[in-house]
Amino acid sequence: MTTPVTTPVTVPPTGTTDVALTVQQTARPTGFPVPDHFRFVESAVPEPAPGTALVENLYWSVDPYHREMMDGDFELDAPLEGRTLGRVVASRDPALREGEIVFHRRGWRTHSVVRPAETRRLPHHDGVPLSAHLSLFGGTGLTAYVGLTRIARLREGDDVFVSAAAGGVGTATGRLARLLGAGRLVGSAGSAAKVAYLKEQVGYDEAFDYHEGPVAGQLAKAAPDGIDLFVDNVGGEHLGAAIGALRRRGRVVRIGTVGQYNTPDAPPVLFDHADVVEKSLRIEGFLVSDHRDVQEELYAFAVPHLLGGRLALDETVVDGFERIVEAFLSMLRGGNTGKMIIRKA
Ligand SMILES: NC(=O)c1ccc[n+]([C@@H]2O[C@H](COP(=O)([O-])OP(=O)(O)OC[C@H]3O[C@@H](n4cnc5c(N)ncnc54)[C@H](OP(=O)(O)O)[C@@H]3O)[C@@H](O)[C@H]2O)c1
Repeated sequence: MTTPVTTPVTVPPTGTTDVALTVQQTARPTGFPVPDHFRFVESAVPEPAPGTALVENLYWSVDPYHREMMDGDFELDAPLEGRTLGRVVASRDPALREGEIVFHRRGWRTHSVVRPAETRRLPHHDGVPLSAHLSLFGGTGLTAYVGLTRIARLREGDDVFVSAAAGGVGTATGRLARLLGAGRLVGSAGSAAKVAYLKEQVGYDEAFDYHEGPVAGQLAKAAPDGIDLFVDNVGGEHLGAAIGALRRRGRVVRIGTVGQYNTPDAPPVLFDHADVVEKSLRIEGFLVSDHRDVQEELYAFAVPHLLGGRLALDETVVDGFERIVEAFLSMLRGGNTGKMIIRKA
C-alpha cells in the first residue's frame, strides 16, 4: 500500500491517471474557512473490491452545507463527501457497467470506489449537459422546485421575493417560479453585476444589492405593494424584512441560512411577531433529502422547458479538481453566479 503524501492546497496535482487525489479537512474553522483548513492527499488509484466499482470523477458540487459539516460532521483527516458525477472505469459488480456515468456522494476526490446502492444512474436526455445533474436537475434545482410547489404551494400571480437570488437555488427558484405562473419576481444578491444578471438573464422584475442599504428599505422600494411569498436562502435581516413586507396569508419558505454559516455570532432576527398572527403567515422549512420522490416530476416539468429554450442553466464552472477548495471558499463569499461546479480539466 502506498503511504499517502500530503500536499498543500496550492500545489497543482500531477495530472496523471495513476495518482488519486483526495481532499481532507485538517481543522475546525471559526468564521470563514481558509485554504489551510484543507489538504490534498495523493495516493495510488484504489482497486475496486468485489461488489464495488471504481469511478473516475468528472464533475463535483461544492455546497453551503459543506460549511456546516466542517463544524463537526466532516471527520478531520478523512475523505470528505459531496455530490459528484463520474464514469465507471473498472467494475467488479454486474450492476455497474464500465463506461456508464453515475451520480454518487463520495466526492472531493478524483477517484471513488462505490457500491451499486451508493450510486444513481442518470436519465439520458439528448441535449441535457452532464453538469445539469448537479445544478437544475440536481439537489439544487430540486430544492427550488420543492420549495415552490410543495412548501410554498405557489399560486398563479403570487409576488415572490428570493434571497441569495443569484446563487444556484436562487436562480433556479426565479426561473421555475416564472414558468409556474408567479407574478412579480424580486431578488436580492451581493453585487451590481449579479443584480444585472438577475434582471437581464434570469427574468427577475426587480433586484437589489443587499450591501447597498438596509434590506427592509430596499425591499419596500423594489416591491412597494408587498409580496405573497419569500423564498429564503439567507435568514437574518432578509427574513425580518420579508416578514414585514408579506401580505395577508403570505408564506415564508425557509431553505437555508447562508448569511450565518460563517458568522455564528450574528445577531438574532428581529421582526414583529404579531405580524405572523395578524397576517396569518406560514413559515415552513424543509430538507430536500425528504423530497427525493419529486425528482421524476422535476425532470418531467423542466426537461422540455430546457430543451425548448424556455429554461436555461445558471452555472459557474471551475476547471480542474485542484481548484475545488478555492471554488468552495469562493462560493461562500459569493464568487459564483448560479450553481458552483468543478469540472475535471
Ligand atoms: N433545505 C435544503 O435542503 C437545501 C438544499 C440546498 C441548499 N440549501 C440552502 O440554500 C441556500 C443556497 O444554497 P446554494 O447551494 O444555492 O448556494 P449559492 O446560493 O449558489 O451560494 C451561496 C451564496 O450565498 C450568498 N451569500 C454568502 N454570504 C451571504 C450573506 N452573508 N448574506 C447574503 N448572501 C450571502 C453568496 O451570494 P451573494 O454574492 O449574493 O452574497 C453566495 O453566492 C443555502 O442557504 C443552502 O444551505 C438548502
